[in-house]
Amino acid sequence: MEPRGRLVVMISGFGSNLQAILDACREGRLWAEVVLVVSNRRDAYGLIRAARAGVPTLYFPLRPYRERGLDRIAYDQDLADQIAPYRPDLIVLAGWMHILSSAFLDRFPGRVINLHPALPGMFPGRDAIRRAFEAYRRGEISCSGCMVHYVTPEVDAGPVLVQAEVPLYPEDTLERFEARMHEAEHRILVEGIRRALERLRSCEP
Ligand code: GRF
Repeated sequence: MEPRGRLVVMISGFGSNLQAILDACREGRLWAEVVLVVSNRRDAYGLIRAARAGVPTLYFPLRPYRERGLDRIAYDQDLADQIAPYRPDLIVLAGWMHILSSAFLDRFPGRVINLHPALPGMFPGRDAIRRAFEAYRRGEISCSGCMVHYVTPEVDAGPVLVQAEVPLYPEDTLERFEARMHEAEHRILVEGIRRALERLRSCEP
């Protein structure tokens, strides 16, 4: 049998998407294991989820670099150095709120994927869910969605692995729309990881 895919998951907050990955691995829906969870925020609840699941964690903040007058490239290089020993098949950005430069991405070519709560080309950057909800209210869109894509230096863009539409309804509140979005995200993230691992396996000699 194939060895399980080795996942490094990077988070900055609540970690519900991390939990979806951990659950899928535990229940055998995803032939993978999370070998490390990285957070750039100490208070990220996802770190508690990781610890509960017995997964090693790494808290790696940008602030000490800023304080020493070092740039993001230095941070990205050191971050890659910390992650490389875990030999990840895939690095999954699941609510990771820091833009990674080529200094990081070039160390793991074709192995970094991101979850974004909008469809390709729509609402890149922060607060995509709220911005989509407001655009719907203004009558500018009738539907939003989410995607899992390979990471390039361009923010929330790059070849798409899987995407799903998430409808908006007139009676929606932001909270209801958000809940529907997260449900879709948890589903496509697992599917996106599965597809990316399959691609890697099919490229193996
Ligand atoms: C998700 O909506 C993700 O798409 C966005 O941040 C949110 C993270 O949620 N980038 P969680 O921390 O996984 O609960």
